[in-house]
Amino acid sequence: MMDGTDQKAANLVLLGPPGAGKGTQARMLEESFGLVQLSTGDLLRAAVKAGTEAGRQAKAVMEAGDLVSDEIVIAILRDRLGEPDCAKGVILDGFPRTTGQAEALDRLMTETGQGITAAISLEVDDNAMVARISGRYTCAGCGEGYHDTFKTPATPGTCDKCGGTEMTRRADDNAETVEQRLRAYHAQTAPLIDYYDGKGVLARVDAMADIDTVAQELNTIVAQAVA
Ligand code: AP5
Ligand code: MG
Ligand code: ZN
Repeated sequence: MMDGTDQKAANLVLLGPPGAGKGTQARMLEESFGLVQLSTGDLLRAAVKAGTEAGRQAKAVMEAGDLVSDEIVIAILRDRLGEPDCAKGVILDGFPRTTGQAEALDRLMTETGQGITAAISLEVDDNAMVARISGRYTCAGCGEGYHDTFKTPATPGTCDKCGGTEMTRRADDNAETVEQRLRAYHAQTAPLIDYYDGKGVLARVDAMADIDTVAQELNTIVAQAVA
């Protein structure tokens, strides 16, 4: 890992449909560059688990594969972004997802004298995403993500990162909900590719390649962003 003293605080957006690899790659970038992964999906799942008011409102929407309201998501994101560790730079995973969220993010960044350094679009074939998502599972101890076929732990059933043995699957990771999540992506989120292209910060990555190949491409882009 770079020691963080010789690199700029870069703020990155990872765009891509469900299963594109946003979470997988964000965790790897967090380790390599010391940036903070900020996943609104993870923050919402934590709110559902904690039974907060926002979590109660979000639960059914997430299980249906629809987008949670901008109001709830922006409030959650704003709170997290204000925590001190985010000053070294963030990797936004799954946010923004609507034009309203992108505009709110621009305002938040302007308020703190920052900006979006790069928006990276993970480009994939929809057809491959159901297989990626239905094979996914996650370590309950540390959150490391795995896949039945594409990313298996060295010892079956034991997390490589923390040694934990409890693995969980997400409530919304079933074929039916994935279809709706893909529809929501194309209708509401895909237009953000043009939004960031128009600002001159867009990079496109072929995310059909294997995990390590995608990671290498992202490393090159992020190394430039923090230089
Ligand atoms: P969220 O948690 O963001 O889910 P998502 O966008 O549907 O994306 P995923 O987490 O499913 O996919 P990923 O791209 O992270 O893929 P991963 O790296 O895990 O959102 C969930 C819900 O919360 C939404 O539906 C919505 O209701 C709500 N929500 C969240 N944010 C919101 C917002 N901003 N506004 C409104 N609502 C919001 O990879 C998938 C699997 O594939 C893994 O098993 C992995 O090991 C494997 N894999 C990864 N890369 C590769 C590769 N290159 N080759 C082979 N396998 C791979
Ligand atoms: Mg994810
Ligand atoms: Zn673990």
